[in-house]
Amino acid sequence: MTAPIPRDIPLPLPAPEGFLEILLVVAFLVHIIFVHLMLGGSLFSLVCQIQGLKTPDYEKLAYRIMQTVTVNKSLAVVMGVAPLLIINTLYAPQFYASSALIGDMWMAVIPMVTLAFLLAYVHKFWWHQFTGIPELHIGIAALETLLFLFIPLIFMTNVNLMLFPEYWEEVKGFVSAMLLPNVLQRYLHFLSASILFTALFLVWWTGRKPFQEEVQFSELRMVTVRRFFYAFAFGASIFQILTGLLVMASLPTQGMGWSFILILTLGGAAALPALWWMWHNLTRAENLIDDHFNKIIISFACAAILMGIARHEYRKNALADHQSAIAEKTANYSAAVKEAGEQAKLAELTVPKASTPGEAAFNQNCSACHHATLATVGPALQEIKAIYAGNPAGIVNWTKAPGRKRLEGMSMPGFPQLSDDELEAISQYILNH
Ligand code: HEC
Repeated sequence: MTAPIPRDIPLPLPAPEGFLEILLVVAFLVHIIFVHLMLGGSLFSLVCQIQGLKTPDYEKLAYRIMQTVTVNKSLAVVMGVAPLLIINTLYAPQFYASSALIGDMWMAVIPMVTLAFLLAYVHKFWWHQFTGIPELHIGIAALETLLFLFIPLIFMTNVNLMLFPEYWEEVKGFVSAMLLPNVLQRYLHFLSASILFTALFLVWWTGRKPFQEEVQFSELRMVTVRRFFYAFAFGASIFQILTGLLVMASLPTQGMGWSFILILTLGGAAALPALWWMWHNLTRAENLIDDHFNKIIISFACAAILMGIARHEYRKNALADHQSAIAEKTANYSAAVKEAGEQAKLAELTVPKASTPGEAAFNQNCSACHHATLATVGPALQEIKAIYAGNPAGIVNWTKAPGRKRLEGMSMPGFPQLSDDELEAISQYILNH
């Protein structure tokens, strides 16, 4: 398997590389938090709505959760611009190649996102219009959630494919790129992070005073709601660890390095206290349930930041050789372009510039066969001058209707396209040369 080495555009980066890398990690983390909340919110709203068929209080909860989804989706989209631009800047050839290789599906992101957003709005804004037809409402929610679930898979397939140029030649469109080792593992890992972060967000969000005052549950107790989300958060973190190990096992070793493994281990370790505290909350007496919330968040935030850095570290390692091969190819190409430019300039300088229209017309029409001193295809100008000295009209007449004198060579073609004035100028030039 050899990796194609595309040529880059020989332009400098708009900012120092290290700075762009830091910006990429930060901007991506901000973006992905809102993606998680959007996706997780849609998922939880659906789950609660289904649960609401049995326990109506959950339907109220679903409605509240849906209020957050549309806000978070707007933030996810806006915050996604920066990382996308930086990736395009830092890894232009790789990202371009992978986007093109899954082109159809990559383009389909736009209509799919549009449809998902519209469904989310229908789901949210017409909530009470659907009273009496909960199946339809749930159907819309399910379709919206499915789209929200599918779109990140396209992104993941793309950013995974860009990491491994050695697959570019064998990949045939989206599905085959999606089935490359480790995409699905990464996706499940991502999905569990969505559930984890959203569950924690909802623990906080439902715990606020305004929420508790606004939503009037008839039987559901707040503590049950929070336990419900804590249980999801805890389960998702276990799933997160398992899928994380799967991702590790499936990642090609070319991107592994000590720094990557170290940062990853630290990231994993940072999440452990959160697990402990969540377990504590779940197993304690009900009224103690929201202890440690801030500590849990800090622990997961550290883990997320470290994972974000590790993720970039892997990408950097994986693409290091390819990047330098591209840089070398681009540099060689730029040097060749420069050299060719200089040679062209030089050639321009050495080609004598025609100083009269006669000379210009001669160069264009006659010089291919007539040299100044050597007989080439036709006789040398020296010879012609000797024959036609003082008789420019003789040259004009000959050229209008060339005869046949020198039988050893070819005969001369006629020049009906030249005007008398041009011919006159040419013969003057020949005779005075
Ligand atoms: C494709 C080659 C070719 C081109 C182009 C060409 N010539 Fe010639 N020219 C010849 C050949 C071959 C002869 C010799 C013909 C012969 O002696 O039968 C010749 C002969 C001549 C002669 C000598 C005639 C003589 O009396 O001996 C003149 C004058 C001449 N060419 C002028 C021109 C001029 C002016 C042009 C441009 C407008 C021109 N040629 C373009 C091939 C060419």
